[in-house]
Amino acid sequence: MSDLTRETIALALGDRPHEFYDSIASSSDRALALLEKGVPSGTVVIADQQTSGRGRLGRAWLSPPGAALMLSVVLHPPANAMSDVGMMAALAVVETIAAMGATGAGIKWPNDVQIGGRKVCGVLPESTWQGERRIGAIVGIGINVRVDFAGSPLADSAISLEDVVGAVDRTAFLVNLLARIDHWSALLGSDAIFTAWRGRLNMIGRAVTVHTPTGVIIGTADRVERDGTLWVADAEGALQRVIAGDIAIGTQD
Ligand code: BTN
Repeated sequence: MSDLTRETIALALGDRPHEFYDSIASSSDRALALLEKGVPSGTVVIADQQTSGRGRLGRAWLSPPGAALMLSVVLHPPANAMSDVGMMAALAVVETIAAMGATGAGIKWPNDVQIGGRKVCGVLPESTWQGERRIGAIVGIGINVRVDFAGSPLADSAISLEDVVGAVDRTAFLVNLLARIDHWSALLGSDAIFTAWRGRLNMIGRAVTVHTPTGVIIGTADRVERDGTLWVADAEGALQRVIAGDIAIGTQD
């Protein structure tokens, strides 16, 4: 019996608007379609398997069936709070897994959740527009619960939650995670999310290598701004602003 089924989820989520798919192209595609239909904030799409899961920077997000918790949540953030959405989701995940006993959990800028410096969760915030008007947002969250990375190219950089905390019931995990998402979603647009997210970042003050769309910056992660952008002090001490990119701890290219 799987720990994440239509039945276990329906029982656990009660009245909360949700959809569950044994297999779907992408829970985020489905959430975006629901957003355009006008579903309420907090509506959640959960998938056991995705055939075209999407990650950051145009990458694919792959996970075998039965091994991950993958969900996409519809949100209606206040104007100008879009940058809070990814922070909010990463924060909710890191708090939930820390409460489950994942010591050493932190956020790698912008919104990867890591345990002991290895990625356990990815977050992908997206929004849709009607002309100049933003309809709303969704956030996709993929968590490695029991993905076996042994022998894969990700063996050194990824980790599964069960490797750290033991057996996980994905339905119970979902309920606890949604409770933190609901808590923080009510604060979208406030400074509280930023402050808590910044407090969980694991690379400020450390030597980093950042691959950005325009080049590589090697230096020290200096600070983050309220809109989530990162400042890195390069080898000459000049501050470089990073809006998007991949950051690695250390100075190896
Ligand atoms: C990243 O690249 O780190 C972000 C990965 C986000 C993956 C999740 S899995 C659930 C949701 N549906 C998708 O297609 N992507 C997100």
